[in-house]
Amino acid sequence: MADIKDQIKAIKESCLSKISSAKTPQEIENIRLKFLGRKGTLTLILRSIKNLTESQRPRIGALANSVRKELERVIEDKNETLGRKKVIPTVDLTLPSRRYRVGRSHLISRTIKELVDIFTGFGFEVALGNEIETEFYNFEALNMPADHPARDMQDTLYLPKGYLLRTHTSPVQIRYMESHKPPIRMMAPGRVYREEDINASHLPLFYQLEGLMVDKGVRFSDLKGILEFAVKRLFSKDLKVRFRPSFFPFTEPSAEMDIECPHCRNKGCNVCGYKGWLEILGAGMVDPNVYKSVGYDKYDVSGFAFGMGIERIAMIRHRITDIRLFYTGDIRFLTSI
Ligand code: PHE
Repeated sequence: MADIKDQIKAIKESCLSKISSAKTPQEIENIRLKFLGRKGTLTLILRSIKNLTESQRPRIGALANSVRKELERVIEDKNETLGRKKVIPTVDLTLPSRRYRVGRSHLISRTIKELVDIFTGFGFEVALGNEIETEFYNFEALNMPADHPARDMQDTLYLPKGYLLRTHTSPVQIRYMESHKPPIRMMAPGRVYREEDINASHLPLFYQLEGLMVDKGVRFSDLKGILEFAVKRLFSKDLKVRFRPSFFPFTEPSAEMDIECPHCRNKGCNVCGYKGWLEILGAGMVDPNVYKSVGYDKYDVSGFAFGMGIERIAMIRHRITDIRLFYTGDIRFLTSI
């Protein structure tokens, strides 16, 4: 009995001293096999325990097992230290660094920012409304009563309980006038929704920029002057523009503004569909009925409003022929604009 105890202790000492002088994981592995492997010296002792007398078995068994556990732990620790030492000095400073791309704002965000900067120069301030609106703000207050055929001009996505997704940014005009007194100069960039089939020029979700100026004595020439200046800042100074009569229920008179195609300069190309001109925005003098719905005195003030599609402007400037490209996340497109 004393004999087997001494043997276990001797195995332990010998194993520990070998581990402490080992220098590679391979050496450690050999030591492990020699002592703890299937035919290892300690393993053999553990196996022979069954031949001991019943009174010896538990004590010798416990001793041998605790030595085995200790050796396993020491081996594991040693392996870890050897492993760590190996990783640290292997940083290869000559390796080229990883390539990475710098992100940037989406073209729509950049276009909105440019427009906001231009109109800020005219003293317009940014206002935001709600994408979920009521019929009152989207239609009624804009001079489109319930049975007005103009409601059909924009295919509306209706929500339960009388709500809808705004079809244009014009409801922001109403909300702004309700909470501000003239003089007013405000612009409202934002998303609008229409029930459209998706194709190269239509999406059910797109962006508009609304503008509104109301004061004493605002005239159609103010509308023309400001919009002409803004559009020339956006495209180029020498670009020709024209106004055509049009119709919107909330403006009277109403107009649409065209620009000479900046790519072919009126000669005709695939950007302008060989027309030479491109429609760029809708505008007009605010209809007196709109003042009535926000409680302004229609004899006291006058003003103009305009609305433009942001994607359309970005598409014209960058020769983009498919509106879907903005929102399909193709990295080749996004890095090219
Ligand atoms: N709200 C109109 C549209 O979406 C654009 C517009 C705004 C026209 C303001 C005139 C004045 O089509």
